[in-house]
Amino acid sequence: MNSFELFQRPRRNRKSPSMRSLVQENHLNVSDLIAPLFVKEGTSAAEPIKSMPGQFRYNLKDLIDECGRLQELGVPCVSLFPALSDAFKDKLASESANIDGLFPNAIRAVKEKYPDLLVMTDVAMDPYSSDGHDGLVDSNGEILNDETLPILAKMACVQAEAGSDIIGPSDMMDGRVAFIRQSLDLAGHKNTSIMSYTAKYASSFYGPFREALDSAPKAGDKKTYQMNPANGDEAIREALNDEAEGADILMVKPGLPYLDILFRLKQTTTLPLAVYNVSGEYAMIKAADQAGWLDGESAMLEMLISFKRAGASMILTYFAKEAAQYLKTNSK
Ligand code: PBG
Repeated sequence: MNSFELFQRPRRNRKSPSMRSLVQENHLNVSDLIAPLFVKEGTSAAEPIKSMPGQFRYNLKDLIDECGRLQELGVPCVSLFPALSDAFKDKLASESANIDGLFPNAIRAVKEKYPDLLVMTDVAMDPYSSDGHDGLVDSNGEILNDETLPILAKMACVQAEAGSDIIGPSDMMDGRVAFIRQSLDLAGHKNTSIMSYTAKYASSFYGPFREALDSAPKAGDKKTYQMNPANGDEAIREALNDEAEGADILMVKPGLPYLDILFRLKQTTTLPLAVYNVSGEYAMIKAADQAGWLDGESAMLEMLISFKRAGASMILTYFAKEAAQYLKTNSK
């Protein structure tokens, strides 16, 4: 083979672990991780969520303990969701305005115990809505946009008042970032951040989450507000709107089926980008791992680094604790 001259040999950069590490372009850090956690009423033991092995609906005390473990591991942020029984749900999501409710109490308790742990909170009507929708439903089943905005803004102000560091509007109503920003500012919460669920798709991958909160829509689907999975340009329009409306961080959700969207937003905005590695993505890997069909840990790591490669600076993931434990054990 003397006559064969090969000048480009990409394999030279892969010849040993040290060489591979030297040329590695992206890294997963514990500081990239945001852990979603569910809090429920009462003091009964944590309830496992069947479709999300390793995830629980926590009572307040267990939630705080879990926050402590995450902080100890170096996870900088938790994203909290309330799991409310039907008694607390109505058409107007009234419970979301109750400053003494389960959720504000949980936010206050976590911030009191762990002031340096960032607390992100979700803004949408579904955990509090008897209709199971993110917006207000009228008698024809239409999801009303402008009428929903004051409800979301009130919810955001209550969460900010309780100590939330980052408001995460996940509802996909038009104009909600501007409306929430103005309301927060008027209420004196100028330093409360907004991480907008900018490109949130109408996805089957939210199934396990809806089981966790018992929040599936009672009628219809979410396709008049969440985005059509077939669309990419539309995500850019949403991003430009959210940026103009005052969002601090833009999010793409779900993650794995929408890596192209994340990559395109990276070329579009200079704002930090987040990705939500949602419940169904977690469930897929857990299920395959439990069946012995793939190695769950390496699949998790490969998935998480794909988000960094595509442009995310932070990842909301139910794998946060597991990934943090891995990074701690393997950082030498
Ligand atoms: C609702 C909300 C959903 C998720 C986060 N906030 C579900 C939905 O839109 O129906 C999904 C998160 C996940 O699947 O992990 N506003």
